Amino acid sequence: MPSEKSFIDTNSVPQKSEMVSEQIEKQWDKMASSYEWSGFEKEVVEKEFVKTIGEVQNKKILDLGSGPGNMARILAKNGASVTGIERSEGMLNRAKKEEEALSQGIRYFQSDLMKIDEISEIKEELFEKGIFSFVLHNIDPVENMSEILKKASEKIIKGGQIIALDPHAVTEYMHHTKDTTREAVKEGGYKEHFQIKITLNSQDGSKTIIQHKHRTLGEYINAFAKAGLRIVEFREITAPEELKNEYPDEYKTPFFQIIVAEKM
Ligand SMILES: C[S@@+](CC[C@H](N)C(=O)[O-])C[C@H]1O[C@@H](n2cnc3c(N)ncnc32)[C@H](O)[C@@H]1O
Repeated sequence: MPSEKSFIDTNSVPQKSEMVSEQIEKQWDKMASSYEWSGFEKEVVEKEFVKTIGEVQNKKILDLGSGPGNMARILAKNGASVTGIERSEGMLNRAKKEEEALSQGIRYFQSDLMKIDEISEIKEELFEKGIFSFVLHNIDPVENMSEILKKASEKIIKGGQIIALDPHAVTEYMHHTKDTTREAVKEGGYKEHFQIKITLNSQDGSKTIIQHKHRTLGEYINAFAKAGLRIVEFREITAPEELKNEYPDEYKTPFFQIIVAEKM
C-alpha cells in the first residue's frame, strides 16, 4: 500500500463494526488509478515476495485480489501463466488496459474471492500456486479469511502452495506515526480490529483516505489451519544490510510478513 503519508486516526479506534464489502469495493474503485507500491514496500514485493514465490516458468498462478495487476505482470514476465481475480471494477479495468497494451496472456475475472468456485471459465482448472499480495488483511469480515483460503486451496493442486504477503501482524503499528500508534494500541489493543486510516496522495494531487485493517497473528494462523493448509514458512521481512541507511526503521523491525502454506 502506498502509505507515504500514513497515520492512525485515533478518533476511529477502536472500531468494532466492520465495513460492509460494498464500501470497501468503492474505496478500491476510487483509488484504482493512483494505487502503486512505494518505498520499502516496492522493494519487498519486487525482491522478497518474488523470491519466495520461486520459479514460475510455465506454471499456472492464481493472483487473488489482483488489483491493478502489478504482481500478475511481474509473474507473467517471469514466464508464468497468470489468472487474476479481482472484485473492484476500477482496479480490473486498469489491469485489463495494461494487458491490452502488453499482451502477456494474463486473464482477469471479476469476482469476490468468496465466490471463486462460481467463475465458470476456470471451474475445471487447477493452479500450481495461489498468491495473495496485500489482500488477506483487507478481507472483511475477518471470519471470511479462512473460507477464502479454503476456496483458493480448492483451486490449487495437491502439494501446491498458497503464498500471502501482508503488513506484519504484530509490528505493523510501528509503521505509522508513533504517538498515535501508542494511543491506538492503548485504546484499541492488539486484539481489536481497529481501522487504520491511510491517506494516499494521487498523482493529480488529490487525496484518498482508505480504511486499512489490522489482523492479528492468531487470526492469520488459525485461518490457514481452518482452511486445511499447512504453513511451511513464516517470513518476517526486514530491510537488508545495503538498505540499512535508506530504511532504518524497516532494518530494525519487520513491517511485512509472508506466509507460505502447502495444500496437503
Ligand atoms: C491492497 S490491494 C492489493 C492489490 C494487488 N494484489 C497488489 O499487490 O498490488 C487489495 C486488493 O484486494 C481486493 N479485494 C479485497 N477483498 C476482496 C474480495 N473479497 N474479493 C475480491 N477482491 C478483493 C481489493 O479490491 C484490492 O484491489
